[in-house]
Amino acid sequence: MVTTVVGCQWGDEGKGKMTDFLGQAADIIVRYQGGNNAGHTIVFDGKKFGLHLLPSGIFFKEKKNVIGNGVVLDPKALLEEIQDLESQGIEINNLYISNRCHILMPYHSYLDRLEEEARSEEDKIGTTGRGIGPCYVDKYKRVGIRMVDLLNKDSFYRLLKRNVSEKNNEIVKLYGGEPFDFDELFETYYAYGQQLKKYVTDTSILLEEANKAGQKILCEGAQGVMLDIDQGTYPYVTSSNPVAGGAMIGTGMGPNIDNNVVGVCKAYTSRVGTGPFPTELFDETAERIREVGHEYGVTTGRPRRIGWFDSVLMRHSCRVSGVKQLALNCLDVLSGIDELKICVAYQKDGQQTIAYPASLAEMEDYEPVYETLPGWQEDLTAIQSYEELPENAKRYVERITELVGVELASFSIGPSREQTVILKEMW
Ligand code: GDP
Ligand code: IMO
Ligand code: MG
Repeated sequence: MVTTVVGCQWGDEGKGKMTDFLGQAADIIVRYQGGNNAGHTIVFDGKKFGLHLLPSGIFFKEKKNVIGNGVVLDPKALLEEIQDLESQGIEINNLYISNRCHILMPYHSYLDRLEEEARSEEDKIGTTGRGIGPCYVDKYKRVGIRMVDLLNKDSFYRLLKRNVSEKNNEIVKLYGGEPFDFDELFETYYAYGQQLKKYVTDTSILLEEANKAGQKILCEGAQGVMLDIDQGTYPYVTSSNPVAGGAMIGTGMGPNIDNNVVGVCKAYTSRVGTGPFPTELFDETAERIREVGHEYGVTTGRPRRIGWFDSVLMRHSCRVSGVKQLALNCLDVLSGIDELKICVAYQKDGQQTIAYPASLAEMEDYEPVYETLPGWQEDLTAIQSYEELPENAKRYVERITELVGVELASFSIGPSREQTVILKEMW
């Protein structure tokens, strides 16, 4: 039995929190795409953790945590993340890494930054600078280095030789940057591989066996549908498939598996990096939401852009991801705002649409059409049931659910595991 947690907006919807919550009942937790561009926050027992590559079930010692084949893995970043947790007394002996995942090398992150610097202001994507795009480019160009290759000295030597020569050429000739030293890279990264070797296995087989044994598998998406390379606001996207379909490709499980898809969203919208954001706010309401919701990136520390809830975007995300249930986060952050707006359509020249436009040029011409609902003043952070919500909060939640057209399975009223109200079974 599989449940997939997918972000429905532009990332940072609270996937880490939801994965940790649903992870309580899971046997295995699997990351299926992205890399350490992700920053997933988990809060329990008064402690807060930010994870980048490790799956958000890592704190459950008895559960297996898998980094699937769809992830791009920076060995240095992963070893640092493991060491950081171990220095806090959290031992990592429940991690399994796919032998097929691609290795993110320092030339990828360097190229990511050089490419971004070379872009005009208008064309900058605002990447996290972690090398995600260049690493996936190598994967699809069929020159990438996979975990199995890193562990085989001869293969690694041969592949790295070719890559370093190619990348140095690009770095020096195209961008005037500093070349990499092959020997140093080879030795350092071969040693990293040896340190990670104990975690590496064929995770597709591990998942198949778990599924046959009736275990519960939780797939954890990174980023969000609007950052998806196919379904997002291209080219202002990441280079992988956060959509739920990406879970089947990025874990090595077949699409015929029994899979529930839980779409995670905030009660408003946020975005880091550049690109269109129709409901973006630039006023004191945005400031207020940013401060109350601590809306600063977990990976880069950048302030997040803030806007009203966009049901056009949400319908698009839920459709392309096959979302069956909605997990609504950060409802508490909206307390104290007199009036709340929900985008119900986009319009230009008097014509309305409820289909998210594929064209960025077209998007620029559209204005959001809003419905205004009364807000509430009450603090929601200690609420434990739907009934306890103020009437206006209920109306807001009901309207969102109605517009998105997906059953509401939970809502969340604070960062902590305990601040989650479950309305429907999600397994
Ligand atoms: P992810 O990338 O989707 O895992 O989300 P992030 O961790 O990057 O960002 C979500 C932020 O919202 C984190 O700081 C969470 O601790 C916080 N958070 C999650 N759910 C809630 C909630 O219901 N209320 C509040 N106030 N914060 C929340
Ligand atoms: P989580 O998993 C929010 C954004 C970047 C940039 C674009 C491309 O925490 O939700 P990349 O480095 O991937 O090439 O950057 O995607 N981005 C995220 N935004 N949350 C994330 O992850 C993100 N990962 C990448 O800001 O706009
Ligand atoms: Mg995040």
